[in-house]
Amino acid sequence: MTVTIDSKLPDVGTTIFTIMSQLAGEHGAINLAQGFPSFEPPDELKRRIAHYIDVGANQYAPMPGVPALTEAIAAKVERLYGAAVNPGTEVTVCTGATEGLFSTIQAVVRPADEVIVFDPAYDAYEPAVTLAGGVTRHVPLAIANHGHEFEIDWNRLESAVTGKTRLIVLNFPHNPTGAILSVDDLERLAAIVRDTGVFLMSDEVYEHIVFGGETHRSLLCNDELRERSFVISSFGKTFHATGWKVGYCIAPPALTAEFRRVHQFTTFTVVTPIQCALADFMNESPGFADELSAFYERKRDTLCELLEGSRFRFAPARSTFFQVLDYSAVSDEADTDLSARWTREIGVASIPLSVFCEQPFTGQLLRFCFAKDDATLEQAALKLCAL
Ligand SMILES: Cc1ncc(COP(=O)(O)O)c(C=O)c1O
Repeated sequence: MTVTIDSKLPDVGTTIFTIMSQLAGEHGAINLAQGFPSFEPPDELKRRIAHYIDVGANQYAPMPGVPALTEAIAAKVERLYGAAVNPGTEVTVCTGATEGLFSTIQAVVRPADEVIVFDPAYDAYEPAVTLAGGVTRHVPLAIANHGHEFEIDWNRLESAVTGKTRLIVLNFPHNPTGAILSVDDLERLAAIVRDTGVFLMSDEVYEHIVFGGETHRSLLCNDELRERSFVISSFGKTFHATGWKVGYCIAPPALTAEFRRVHQFTTFTVVTPIQCALADFMNESPGFADELSAFYERKRDTLCELLEGSRFRFAPARSTFFQVLDYSAVSDEADTDLSARWTREIGVASIPLSVFCEQPFTGQLLRFCFAKDDATLEQAALKLCAL
């Protein structure tokens, strides 16, 4: 007998990040597709991990996280966002932001509940909603600045919120477009969810990478939003350590209690020596994260300057480590075909934006990661300028 399995996620294939990275590997292309930095984590942080392994911090950490780390996280969000959160009852360390997103969705979404995401949407949200029995509603971001920037379309959001809406997923600083939120945006969001039972999940993994002297507006900055929010972040982007998969979720005590019901049976606890080391490093070097925006702004400027003579159209990204390029003056191929072909033929891998959208996407946009050393950016730009 052949054993078959009726898939719970029949529409889910391999993620675009894996596909493009594999293709880049096969063809020896410069991989500007997947979002990982080519820089090492700080030496002191690596030394602290080795130290904690040596001194025996090798068994299960407490389920919500090592207290020194939940305290360091609480201190950080108070300093940056003015939010006093209780490290014991409102902060949970998770296995990367991915587990925080997944556990939040499983904790909140019931069968037939609706969850709103903004397209282009990071691809981890919808499968988790489907597994919870919920239905994902896609609200496209509005296109601004001659097609080069994106923002929330408040009218569309307002009409998408119904009695069935259980959760709105936000991701600002936004991957892939670099859109950010303003204080006014937080107030508009508060007006829409006021007097509803809607929860918010805010994926803020790029919180420390915002350009042009702007600051990140966490949902933690707004007391009214905070009451209904799960705010999720990751140390992977902040400390050039995406392979460590350590992140956290901040939510009010009742919401955190529900979150932990899922978290304890999803992963239970997160790698102990890395948690201990992160706590030390955050306490001793708070400036590291503060300098990240300037570091990546230089990278962004390097790539944009190198592309000045190219036929791509773009506005410099406002946040994250991704630059979106409009290739409409270079080709009229579909973005999925083009990104694959350019990976094979010109040797630069990127991510097509249409894969993050439910509706056919009218833009001709590719996302390029600039978290790379300058020599890599120069080589890639040379190839892109020749097109
Ligand atoms: C928007 C967004 N959310 C979440 C994640 C995943 O974070 P982590 O690696 O900490 O699970 C990523 C990683 O690329 C991301 O871009």
